Amino acid sequence: MLIGFMGAGKSSIGRVLADRLSFRFFDTDAMVEESAGQTISEIWNAEGEAGFRSREADAVVNACAGTGRVIACGGGAVLEIRNYGILKGAGTVVYLRAPAPVLRARVGNGMDRPLLKDAGAFDRLLAQRTPAYESAADLIVDTDERTPDELAGDIARQLA
Ligand code: S3P
Repeated sequence: MLIGFMGAGKSSIGRVLADRLSFRFFDTDAMVEESAGQTISEIWNAEGEAGFRSREADAVVNACAGTGRVIACGGGAVLEIRNYGILKGAGTVVYLRAPAPVLRARVGNGMDRPLLKDAGAFDRLLAQRTPAYESAADLIVDTDERTPDELAGDIARQLA
């Protein structure tokens, strides 16, 4: 499964990687939105972060219930203790790492990412989470200059 901060490219690289490996692709954010029939922002507004995290935990269980899968995890998923063991037990955990300015450019105005609404949240969360992503990872891949295709090829080689 692919972990990393918002904007790391987990969904776009994950889709290409799954294609390359002929694996099924799962995206926990998309699973949450689909089962709720609401966007992440709508869920956050209606149920708060706790409601979202509980839905996300269900998505993690469902995404991990099988083999031959590439799973793109929402940026906070692996940091939740209830998800950690499930994700670690389900396969190789790949941390997609990128420099702060690259992540910041990719998340843009953070409109669809409720955690980034507060000023300063980006830097605070990135500093808090980077060591946790590093310690959860079996493999760390730096994503800055390369295309999803190149990165997926690189990851596939390292997983072989
Ligand atoms: C979150 C990341 C988002 C989404 C939610 C919370 C986080 O996913 O799950 O907004 O806690 O980092 P992406 O990492 O796909 O943006």
